[in-house]
Amino acid sequence: MNQAHRRISKAVIPAAGLGTRFLPATKATPKEMLPVVDKPAIQYVVEEAAGAGLSDVLMVTGRNKRPLEDHFDRNYELESALTKKGDAHRLAKVQESSDLATMHYVRQGDPRGLGHAVLCAAPHVGDEAFAVLLGDDLIDPRDPLLARMVEVQQTYGGSVVALMEVDPQQIHLYGCAAVEPSDDGDVVKVTGLVEKPEPAEAPSNLAIIGRYVLDPAVFDVLRETAPGRGGEIQLTDALQTLAEDEKVGGPVHGVVFRGRRYDTGDRGDYLRAIVRLACERGDLGPDFKTWLRSYVTEEM
Ligand code: G1P
Repeated sequence: MNQAHRRISKAVIPAAGLGTRFLPATKATPKEMLPVVDKPAIQYVVEEAAGAGLSDVLMVTGRNKRPLEDHFDRNYELESALTKKGDAHRLAKVQESSDLATMHYVRQGDPRGLGHAVLCAAPHVGDEAFAVLLGDDLIDPRDPLLARMVEVQQTYGGSVVALMEVDPQQIHLYGCAAVEPSDDGDVVKVTGLVEKPEPAEAPSNLAIIGRYVLDPAVFDVLRETAPGRGGEIQLTDALQTLAEDEKVGGPVHGVVFRGRRYDTGDRGDYLRAIVRLACERGDLGPDFKTWLRSYVTEEM
């Protein structure tokens, strides 16, 4: 069956990173479990996958990541305690994360880079297009990006990356795309990709943000991809091979995202995400905003 038209149902979430930017908080707790308001960061990402119709989620984990498995599993002890108390509201919160998707786990073993993490998903994914969501990138739930990327993949086939314009001085933190326009306003054809270029060498200011919809041909390419930047097997390098030669796995397109994205792997952006999402919450927002206004006026 034509890859372009087969429904996409699997999402892969690499979550093996050590989270050193958040030490000591991440000494014994996975960085993915750090709360953004009152939900672990990773739950937003799984909710995003489920919201885009991807009900089969594979997490690529490593040592010390057991709390992730527990979070997306049932917790009968807590559930029965809350049932006895008649606390239906909190019971629903406990059950929410275990009802989101069918969860699977695989361990990465050696941390050999994002490309290697994605390759660990090959036996689970098989010969289907699939999505990859990076846990550090939090996309505001009101700005659906992944659903649009799935739609674009169904139209054009091949692979789709999420791109966002960044300050040219920041491009060295991201994979960067060379692009040509397409007939769709928010879609570009990707002609080349380079991982974390120096500003002077960057082909554009379009950065890859952590969402991908990939043709399964990427697995064979990853097997042949030599370690790149930082001595790691880079997903960007494998996608460059696909972009260079459409015969390998179809074209690579980019969806240019203009919505709200937070990098929860960065401490400053993590704090901004919490403040923004807290302000917008119906239950917490009104009181929190009143306090924030007076705090900013008095203290800043
Ligand atoms: C990874 C990718 C990079 C991408 C970024 C998005 O880098 O290698 O191409 O732009 O995610 O967040 P990392 O941030 O893991 O170093």
